[in-house]
Amino acid sequence: LHDRQPIIAIDGPAGAGKSTVARQVAAKLGLVYLDTGAMYRAITWLVLQKGIALDDECAIAELANHCVIQLSPGKDLQTPVQVWINDTDVTQAIRTHEVTSKVSAIAAQSAVRQALLKLQQNWGKKGGLVAEGRDIGTQVFPDAEVKIFLTASVSERARRRQQDFQKQGQPEVSIEQLEKDIAERDRKDSTRKVSPLQKAADAVEIRTDGMSVSEVTEQIVDFYTNLR
Ligand code: DC
Repeated sequence: LHDRQPIIAIDGPAGAGKSTVARQVAAKLGLVYLDTGAMYRAITWLVLQKGIALDDECAIAELANHCVIQLSPGKDLQTPVQVWINDTDVTQAIRTHEVTSKVSAIAAQSAVRQALLKLQQNWGKKGGLVAEGRDIGTQVFPDAEVKIFLTASVSERARRRQQDFQKQGQPEVSIEQLEKDIAERDRKDSTRKVSPLQKAADAVEIRTDGMSVSEVTEQIVDFYTNLR
């Protein structure tokens, strides 16, 4: 069909389990894992680090068009994906509450999205990847062979975020605060003008409440295998 290897697109709201599942699927199928959220986080980190105002769209566009982002898979599934921006290792720094609370404002800017879209499509030219984000099935790889929309209830997602923070040794955040943050981020991500979080018409929705990571992974691997 295509002049490239297949692509699996995984979209959905924060905390639905996309990253964990996408990495597992990639490992099982021998595909490359592309974490597009990490790219928006890296730019956000750079904006904060440079002290640029979040609404200074010109300065931010300039940064986005000229930065060099590198991603490298962790050595195993427990190790976080390593992220560099302009040669600074921001693997840990992009996961802080600070960056997480500001990233929606940056991801809503169309110049930023255009810059990252180009990078992502360029990396995906040969296919053979599992790409994860908010607009993969709709904008980045609309011709992906497998499109998944992963969701879970807000309370389930808050609970998982709290576990992640604990694992990463980050300061404790209450469930109430996390639920508020997640609901707010959902609202911003789905109502923004450019590339809002949206289920592609041809995506399969998987609601992950009460499902284990391996159950979700198996389902997606099955979709992929049934393509052949
Ligand atoms: O998946 P994540 O939490 O690391 O994503 C961080 C932010 O980036 C999130 O608020 C939504 C945004 N994002 C986006 O707008 N488009 C993508 N393809 C990936 C992430």
